[in-house]
Amino acid sequence: MNALEVSDIQRAFPLRGGLFARPKLLRAVEHASLALPRGGTFGLVGESGSGKSTLAKIILGADEPTHGEVRFGTRVFGKRTSDSDRRWRQRAVQAVLQDPFGSLDPQMNVGDIVLEPLRIQQSGIVKEALQKRLDALLAQVGLPAEFKRRRPGELSGGQRQRVAIARALVLEPEILVLDEPVSALDVSIQAQVLNLLKDLQDALGLSYLLISHDLAVVAFMSSHIGVLYLGRFMEQGTREDIVERAAHPYTHALIAASEPDAPDVRVIGGEIPSPLAPPAGCVFHTRCPAARDPCRVDAPPERHLSATHRVTCHFPITPKA
Ligand SMILES: Nc1ncnc2c1ncn2[C@@H]1O[C@H](COP(=O)(O)OP(=O)(O)O)[C@@H](O)[C@H]1O
Ligand code: SF4
Ligand SMILES: [Mg+2]
Repeated sequence: MNALEVSDIQRAFPLRGGLFARPKLLRAVEHASLALPRGGTFGLVGESGSGKSTLAKIILGADEPTHGEVRFGTRVFGKRTSDSDRRWRQRAVQAVLQDPFGSLDPQMNVGDIVLEPLRIQQSGIVKEALQKRLDALLAQVGLPAEFKRRRPGELSGGQRQRVAIARALVLEPEILVLDEPVSALDVSIQAQVLNLLKDLQDALGLSYLLISHDLAVVAFMSSHIGVLYLGRFMEQGTREDIVERAAHPYTHALIAASEPDAPDVRVIGGEIPSPLAPPAGCVFHTRCPAARDPCRVDAPPERHLSATHRVTCHFPITPKA
């Protein structure tokens, strides 16, 4: 059973042109579909601007797609969504972002930050119950109880991210959307926070949508991986399909880039094209070392390499025997 299914999502942002110019459409996400199995982690990887956060916002209900559907089990979020399903999503699907304190009052203490969603949802809840829940949550994320009186400015980056995780857990969610949750942290701290997320997933039976520009982070955490480029999935599969049997030239480039010490490093050359004017044919052809004539004209269809493994390329790389 899947915790989350995303079906054929598109999101286009209309941008105003000049005075006499027609508004342009920025296609941030094009025909994206994915499935996150219950208790699993779907890792979404891609360079900056590839549409990861746009997809995250649509899944969280913070943005509406131009086309397509998001399902959580039997609850469908599309053209028509019931109010009870909306309320369910506000509780059951929570986010941890790269900089969770950007939008929070620096004068609030950790206790109020963690409890705020619960206070809003259950206004009549008694003080003792709140304090008990707070202590349990801080212990769960590995912070001493005294931290509840501290302010965000008194915490390290890793401690702040633990607070953000506690806040995301306070309403007992089923799914966490983790958008670049460790990107702002030192590498040594990244591993601690990722291991905490793994432990919490096991203890609480959570399902994760994990977003990172870093394939190493995604490969460490995920049961399933999708590779985005200019809003389109280039490749998708189980962790093993992507890490051990990558078929798309872009995935190969990401793997090479995530191993800086490897002797035979193929760096992805060139700039990411503007999503306002994506290349014709295969959108990756301007940077693809394997591009041939058909790639410049015809968009490759998505093909299935196995029941779990899908690739969008005319000339997928076949695994070594
Ligand atoms: N509200 C918006 N209005 C216009 N363009 C947007 C908006 N949000 C995102 N975009 C554009 O959509 C593309 C994808 O952005 P985003 O989803 O933030 O990518 P990522 O998270 O992978 O870095 C980018 O080109 C970005 O500029
Ligand atoms: S379709 Fe062509 S340009 Fe695109 S990834 Fe495959 S080989 Fe490269
Ligand atoms: Mg982003």
